Amino acid sequence: MRVLTIIPTYNEAESLPGTLQRLRTSVPESDVLVVDDNSPDGTGVWADAQAGKDEHVFVLHRQIKDGLGGAYIAGFRWGLHRDYDVLVEMDADGSHQPEELPRLLQAIDSADLVIGSRRVPGGKVVNWPWHRKLLSLGGSLYPQILLGLRLTDVTAGFRAYRATTLEDMDLSAIQSKGYGFQVDMTFRTARLGKRIVEVPITFREREFGESKMSGDIVAEAFTNVTKWGIAARAQSLGRRFGR
Ligand code: GDD
Ligand code: MN
Repeated sequence: MRVLTIIPTYNEAESLPGTLQRLRTSVPESDVLVVDDNSPDGTGVWADAQAGKDEHVFVLHRQIKDGLGGAYIAGFRWGLHRDYDVLVEMDADGSHQPEELPRLLQAIDSADLVIGSRRVPGGKVVNWPWHRKLLSLGGSLYPQILLGLRLTDVTAGFRAYRATTLEDMDLSAIQSKGYGFQVDMTFRTARLGKRIVEVPITFREREFGESKMSGDIVAEAFTNVTKWGIAARAQSLGRRFGR
């Protein structure tokens, strides 16, 4: 099983070195692709130097900051083109623990998508203020209910996809940029009838740098989920009345 772990970065010069080192130690067999959007703090330059020293590390540079969604899609295309069997998503900022990746990879043996969940028994969030926990809970519950997803953490960003799951999707149709991208991908995977499994993870608030979460990103997710929910209902009504 060839595994590629994709790490999107924007201004993560303080966090990426630790994350990458822990990842290389915990899962040495996984190749790593850093997708950097021309970070002003030099994250991409540091990643290039690392790629020069470690044959398992690669870097994809994009010229402008264009959101988490686009960065992952570029990374998926890069990995599918090179025939990896499993593509992993992981944050650079230390929120996702590389030491927990082996459990996600174990679960992908019998799943098409594995989600590292903060809300199944055993999962947790460390160092988030109550308002961020509330936003995250709402941000997950709303799509779960509206889109009929029987899962607990549909916005989660620590995941493993089987290559076939991504190959069966039209990646060029995905436009979500922020965390709504995670919901979008979950919904598409579910509609393909793929098997989604959640495993517990511990999510830790970053120690360095800043979250790229913004009001715009929340609004994008809310608006899109509402649209998808309405469209899915209209479709099922249409089917019921034979149109
Ligand atoms: N290349 C690139 N371009 N990377 C980006 C961009 C971008 O525009 N925006 C964010 N990133 C990178 C960050 O550098 C980090 O490595 C990762 O994506 C996550 O970004 P954060 O800004 O730290 O996200 P968060 O902590 O607010 O959100 C987390 O929780 C969300 C809700 O559960 C992430 O895990 C999201 O994936 C998740 O949906
Ligand atoms: Mn973060």
